[in-house]
Amino acid sequence: MRTLVTGGAGYIGSHLVDALLGLGHDVTVLDDLSTGSRSNIGRHVDAGAIDFVEGSILDPDLVDQYVSTSELVFHLAAAVGVKFIVDEPLASLLTNTRGTEIVLGSCHANGVRVLLASTSEVYGKTSKVPFEEDDDRVLGPTTIHRWGYSTAKAFDEHLALAYADKGLEVSIVRYFNSYGPRLDPRGYGSVVANFIRQSIAGEPITVHGDGRQTRCFTYVDDTVAGTVAAGITDAAMGRVINLGTTEETAIGDLAATIRDMIGSSSDISYAPYEDYYGSGFEDTRRRVPEIGRASSLLQWEPKVRLREGLERTIAWWRETHG
Ligand SMILES: NC(=O)c1ccc[n+]([C@@H]2O[C@H](COP(=O)([O-])OP(=O)(O)OC[C@H]3O[C@@H](n4cnc5c(N)ncnc54)[C@H](O)[C@@H]3O)[C@@H](O)[C@H]2O)c1
Repeated sequence: MRTLVTGGAGYIGSHLVDALLGLGHDVTVLDDLSTGSRSNIGRHVDAGAIDFVEGSILDPDLVDQYVSTSELVFHLAAAVGVKFIVDEPLASLLTNTRGTEIVLGSCHANGVRVLLASTSEVYGKTSKVPFEEDDDRVLGPTTIHRWGYSTAKAFDEHLALAYADKGLEVSIVRYFNSYGPRLDPRGYGSVVANFIRQSIAGEPITVHGDGRQTRCFTYVDDTVAGTVAAGITDAAMGRVINLGTTEETAIGDLAATIRDMIGSSSDISYAPYEDYYGSGFEDTRRRVPEIGRASSLLQWEPKVRLREGLERTIAWWRETHG
């Protein structure tokens, strides 16, 4: 299939490109390289295996040019990460709402199937676990920028489902804390990358809050396998699907595990959220997906356990960063 990946030079997007090429897709990547990197897809570009377009999803003509010649679109381009959203609320909101509006509008106009990458952030700070796709969302006030990411992605989902009513073939996946090779080496927005970097450097590992907040860290191969399945499976159209492991890990435990696997002597230090995110920050205590829908619709289940995924990620880190 002729397949367009927006955000294809990013962390998840570039792994998705690898998988799609392996399945024989004819791939075009549209990415403005704001957080992505050419090096993530460089070998495919150099080999002429993909078309790479450096440009923005905020450019309607450009988007339409590439959507109209595609049969399938994976829409991953976004301003990503809570830290980024807190630091750059306006630009993030515009990319994550207007950009998606442009991509979905073009897919609808051209009759092209599309997958929308959404997030577990959509659930907000609900205390009901595990999170089921049709659960209520629980958010803090609009004065706390952090909730802007959740709100923008939820708006995207609403838009996608409204277009689905008008005939657009669209599936929506909500990722839960994906990690693996090609995480941003600055550790921006990724706790796994931060902890690996700090452990290897022998610096204190900084845990925000009390470290007892939990997440379900999902290895990128699993994230991508679910994404491909949701993009090509008819039964996924018009549906919202959680993609995450159910292996729940406290952040403090993650810090200790990574430090021990690396053999580092780093201390683990606990810092208030405010030190990193500014005042008035709110967090989600536990974040665990219910994955029955992914299992029944996509026959998808996560395969890589945390320890194994961390081993692969640490090996990649050592290879690329010494
Ligand atoms: N990593 C996770 O755990 C996670 C969790 C939930 C949701 N997501 C979603 O998955 C998708 C991919 O995220 P990622 O983790 O790979 O982050 P990433 O930052 O590596 O990828 C986003 C990509 O989009 C590109 N981009 C940003 N603005 C753009 C624009 N205006 N035009 C074109 N390209 C633009 C960036 O350059 C980057 O390559 C995003 O939609 C994100 O919201 C990721």
